[in-house]
Order: sequence, then C-alpha cells, then structure tokens
Amino acid sequence: MAVDTAIDQYRVLGNPIHQSKSPNIHSAFAEATGQHINYQAQLVAEDAFEATVKAFFESGGKGLNVTVPFKQRAFAMAQILSPAAQKAEAANTLYVNPQGQLVADNTDGMGLVRDICHNLGGELKAQRILVLGAGGAVRGVLQPILAQRPAQVVIANRTHSKALDLAASFTDLGLIEAVPMAQLQGPFDWIINGTSASLAGDLPPLPAGLLTNTSRCYDMMYSAQTTVFNAWALGQGAAAADDGLGMLVEQAAQSFNLWRSVLPPTAEILLALRSELRKQI
Ligand code: ATR
Repeated sequence: MAVDTAIDQYRVLGNPIHQSKSPNIHSAFAEATGQHINYQAQLVAEDAFEATVKAFFESGGKGLNVTVPFKQRAFAMAQILSPAAQKAEAANTLYVNPQGQLVADNTDGMGLVRDICHNLGGELKAQRILVLGAGGAVRGVLQPILAQRPAQVVIANRTHSKALDLAASFTDLGLIEAVPMAQLQGPFDWIINGTSASLAGDLPPLPAGLLTNTSRCYDMMYSAQTTVFNAWALGQGAAAADDGLGMLVEQAAQSFNLWRSVLPPTAEILLALRSELRKQI
C-alpha cells in the first residue's frame, strides 16, 4: 500500500473489511477538527495479524482500529491494557505510548454509553438493565455500562452457562447477575441486545412482561430497516428502540480522541451515515 509518510497514518484491520465505515467516519472527524490524517481499511490474512501490527508501528504508523476476527489477538499483543480492554479481553484500538509500549484500549462500551447518554438523552445510572447475549460483543461493553452505576444488570443468554461465567467475571464492578431467559422478570428500564441474532433476522426467546411504556431498548446491531429486536421492542410498547449506528460512530470518536487528544463532533457524520443506510431500503 503506497503511503504518504508525511501524514499521520491510521488503519482499521479486519477480515473481511470491505464493509467498514471507519475510513469515512475518521475522515469526517479529521475534517471537522482540522486534523491532517490518513485512515484506510486494510484486509489482513488470518495468520498475518501480529506481523501486520508490528510492521505498521515500526514504519511510524500512529494508530490502529481492530475489528472481527482480531480483537482478542490485539488484546493479547499489547503491553499496556486500559481497564476497558482488560475486562473485555479484547481491544479495538491500538497505539504506541511515548515509552514505546503497545497500548490496547476498547472503546466499544464507551461508544455505547455515549450514544445512549449523550445522543439519545438516556440515562443508565440507577436503572435496571437487561443485557441479552454473552459473547464477545457483550463482554466488550459491560465495564463502561457498570461504570454508570446502574441499579442492576441482568445478563440473559440462549446458553445460560455462558451468561453465568460472564456475570461472574464482572461482579467486582457492580450488581450483575445471570438469569435464564425463560425466568426473566420485568420490568426493565433498558434492554440492550448484544446477541448476533439480529444478523440472522432472529429474536432471542423472550418472555412477555419485560417492558413498560417507559422502557427503552437498544440493539447493538444496526441495519437499514428496523432490526427484528427493535421491532419486537416497539411491538411490546417500549418508549423507544434504537440501533447501534450511533455506537459505531461514538466508538470511533473515542478512538480518535485517544490518538489525537481531540473528541470530534459526531452528529453530522451520524446523520450522513443514517441517510446513506436509508437509501439501501
Ligand atoms: P459476538 O462477538 O458478536 O458477541 P459471539 O461471541 O459468537 O459473537 O456471541 C454471539 C451471541 O449471540 C451469543 O450470546 C449467542 O448465544 P449463545 O451463547 O447461546 O450461542 C447469541 N446468539 C446468536 N444467535 C442467536 C439466536 N438466534 N438466538 C439467541 N441468541 C443468539
């Protein structure tokens, strides 16, 4: 890949990577904040991740985003871990600190919390929150959610044993417990869907009575049309149901801030991405 080494270089590494919106988002951030950066998406072969990261930073690269399937390997490579990366056991942001150490952070959870609390005017503090799923996506967001001091976080997953394991590894951070899906008792103030069920157009088997007309729902997935989970939420009478496009933009903003010490404005690029998505309907 030919690069202009006079400009600070950033990449997102993944496999696949063609779908990534990160280059657009970071270019918009750079423009909005008057920063001069080059940010590109790079497809990395499964066996080439660590070598690609090393070569990138050795050649003077400033920062990396890491996406599927490399987030756990990014975490494993780092010498310094942020608290969020430590608990997530995965990283989406890498950079080298002034001491020359590879630092890993995970901005996914902060992105989710910023979208809910800042863009959507919601609050998680003192709220009763149900989180659906117990895979990497959920592990990646629990630390920042618990940092908001909710009244309680309940984890429910199709495979209950995974929810039990996940909840157990976060009990030091707040009140969190795993409950089998069929035994869930509402109402919850928030239901956050972190399963990949929406990707397949599926819905986790949820009992009735989890929501009231003041409950809000959030699907960490996003799509052109209302996700299956959000359609269920609205059908059950939820006050609002939002998808994860804002989380995508906000996690990028947090990465940008780690690299450039400037938190970029997000509203305009979020609107642009939403209208681009709508054109796909
Ligand atoms: P990710 O990195 O996206 O979290 P993952 O680690 O494979 O991916 O986890 C996917 C999550 O979605 C899991 O919680 C999974 O439930 P299981 O642990 O029972 O597999 C959940 N999931 C996927 N498809 C689902 C479906 N059709 N219904 C309910 N839950 C589903």
